[in-house]
Amino acid sequence: MKIFLAPMVGRTDKYFRKLVRIISPNIIMFTEMITLDSLIRGNLRDYTVNKQEHPLVAQIAGNDSDKFIECAEILTKSGFDEINLNIGCPSAKVVKGGFGACQIIDPFKVAEFVEAIKSCTDLPVSIKTRLGIGYDQDLDDIKKFIRLTSEAGCEIFYIHARNAILNGLSTRKNRSVPPLRYDDVMILKETFPHLKVYINGGIVNLEDLNELLAVYGGVMLGRKIYDDPMFLNDIEKKIFFSNNYLSTQKVISRYIDQLEPEDNQNKLFALRHLSNLYKGTCYAKKWRKYLHSVINSDQPLQNIKNFDYRDKNEERKINCS
Ligand SMILES: Cc1cc2nc3c(=O)[nH]c(=O)nc-3n(C[C@H](O)[C@H](O)[C@H](O)COP(=O)(O)O)c2cc1C
Repeated sequence: MKIFLAPMVGRTDKYFRKLVRIISPNIIMFTEMITLDSLIRGNLRDYTVNKQEHPLVAQIAGNDSDKFIECAEILTKSGFDEINLNIGCPSAKVVKGGFGACQIIDPFKVAEFVEAIKSCTDLPVSIKTRLGIGYDQDLDDIKKFIRLTSEAGCEIFYIHARNAILNGLSTRKNRSVPPLRYDDVMILKETFPHLKVYINGGIVNLEDLNELLAVYGGVMLGRKIYDDPMFLNDIEKKIFFSNNYLSTQKVISRYIDQLEPEDNQNKLFALRHLSNLYKGTCYAKKWRKYLHSVINSDQPLQNIKNFDYRDKNEERKINCS
């Protein structure tokens, strides 16, 4: 049974991954999307995946075989556990660069990239993609894409269960407007029984997660985990049956203890992903306000640990049941 933290630009950076790993020892994490050029320029070049981060998948995007080889070598040296190609991003900037979702209809080229990566690393190569592009719900393109890229050596496909609309829809809207089509992901899974086909998109509760896990053996979640990181506690308890059940206070304390003194120079980045930790509780607003005050003052980030979440007067005032 595999659960994946979806790659999310601006979110699944090293800080959020640190937080996620504290709450969930079992989830498989993805980096944010990294373009080949940015990786080659130095972003992540000296990165070493630390013990706690495993398993960690690096997601890359681009359209040049030689650069894919150079990047695969860097990522292998850094200790990543899998190399994932982003063939699903609908952003105008990415599409203008000739990569992302538009590559669904260029399967021969992507197959070449897979072969190039496979030629220089033993790491598993996977692809994250969508069901298609535009409004057409035909599955012919994506089936051809999966067939050719799997023949080139891609073993794992993470399918965001909707199309990408490349003209006229923002990246953000592309995550909610094209309808979710789980049945079509099922068709892909049945068409390629020898491959690992995992599902992604719109999963926000344990019931659906459990149902989909039973069918796919692997499910990827993005926004639910970012918007409510303590949901991972439920996943650990009810799906992995682990006893890593931590209070929010304990999570915060462990997180702060794992930061480095130099993170005080980077307080906004080090602390911003903590803002949803009390989501759904009566402390949510008070916590966000407190966090904001630490970020925007001279206080050291250690002060985060002093959050007085048990303040009885405050509890009454905000009608905490
Ligand atoms: C802020 C944000 C950034 C994202 N960045 C990436 C990315 O870098 N690479 C990628 O493949 N998908 C990216 N996605 C899409 C997610 O990985 C995921 O496919 C999508 O959010 C659907 O899953 P969910 O409904 O569980 O969030 C991003 C999504 C969000 C919300």
